[in-house]
Amino acid sequence: MTVENQNYIDINNLEIREKLLKHCRLKLGDIWTDKSNRHVIACGDATDLNFLKKIFENKEPAALAIHDPPYNLVMFKTREVSEFIKFCKKWIDNSNEFLSENSSLYIWLGADQRNHFKPLPEFMAMMSETEFMSRSFITMRNQRGYGTQKNWMAVRQELLYYTKGTPKFKVQYTDIPKILRGYYKEVAGVTTENMERSKSENIRSSNVWVDIQQVFYRMKENVNGCPAQKPLKAIERIILASSSEDETVLDFFGHSGTTIIAAEKNKRKSISVEIDPLYCEISIRRLEHFQKTGQAGWQNNNPFEKELKEIIGTEFVAA
Ligand SMILES: C[S@@+](CC[C@H](N)C(=O)[O-])C[C@H]1O[C@@H](n2cnc3c(N)ncnc32)[C@H](O)[C@@H]1O
Repeated sequence: MTVENQNYIDINNLEIREKLLKHCRLKLGDIWTDKSNRHVIACGDATDLNFLKKIFENKEPAALAIHDPPYNLVMFKTREVSEFIKFCKKWIDNSNEFLSENSSLYIWLGADQRNHFKPLPEFMAMMSETEFMSRSFITMRNQRGYGTQKNWMAVRQELLYYTKGTPKFKVQYTDIPKILRGYYKEVAGVTTENMERSKSENIRSSNVWVDIQQVFYRMKENVNGCPAQKPLKAIERIILASSSEDETVLDFFGHSGTTIIAAEKNKRKSISVEIDPLYCEISIRRLEHFQKTGQAGWQNNNPFEKELKEIIGTEFVAA
């Protein structure tokens, strides 16, 4: 989070966190279902097969999984790459268990350019031993980069797309109008120009996404306290391409609950697993807030506004 956000308060500060935990509805092992009975938020470990079996009791398998695991980098504890890959193999096997015969699997993953792009190559090698088929290697461009004058600025986020069986795929379009004309091709004996052949006035979404804004505190969808939040538009794009209405979308690393909001907005069901009760509560509140107000986040405000006022005891406002 940048210092520009004057209202920001770190809800992961240990002392504040301790107090907020008392207001969290879920503890490890709990499973919550929303009032519409379409979204499940489960507090637990994505590698724990028995816990997942409980969540999926009497539920149909998911048509799509979108996972955004804690990378081996920066924010979370660093562990050896081999350990990280063993961890990944477990939740990949678990995904296989709860995905339908014809389904899609998307995984966001980092690549450390200072260390042989780990853990991306190791992850890809591990996936090649599973029954998932590789389909696309997508890069999303961040607006804010990092780097020095001595290297290319780093702005990319990697997204891997795999399938099991033969799931449907619906082409998606960006908001960027097509400007290139003049690609002639003969179709059924008639020479046509590319705009005539096109299904949309806009550019088709490819495996390089440059049209999605990275989340920051001025955006309505921002959820303060969730530093790893993915843009809603990116998750909606995946959901629209790789699932249909009323199908279930699975997310093993819920955090701010972006997948749940994207599912609700697009009439899908969702199952979200998250190990931290604080993030489970944030996801629950985010869904309830969306259902009540239509807002996907709190912008400069905070999901724990009321509690933080009490805890900190000032007129602050919630970051
Ligand atoms: C990178 S964030 C996901 C961000 C999410 N896509 C979003 O848009 O908000 C990863 C999350 O995984 C959670 N997590 C870490 N290990 C986990 C595990 N073994 N099982 C379930 N959740 C876990 C972390 O607490 C963190 O909230």
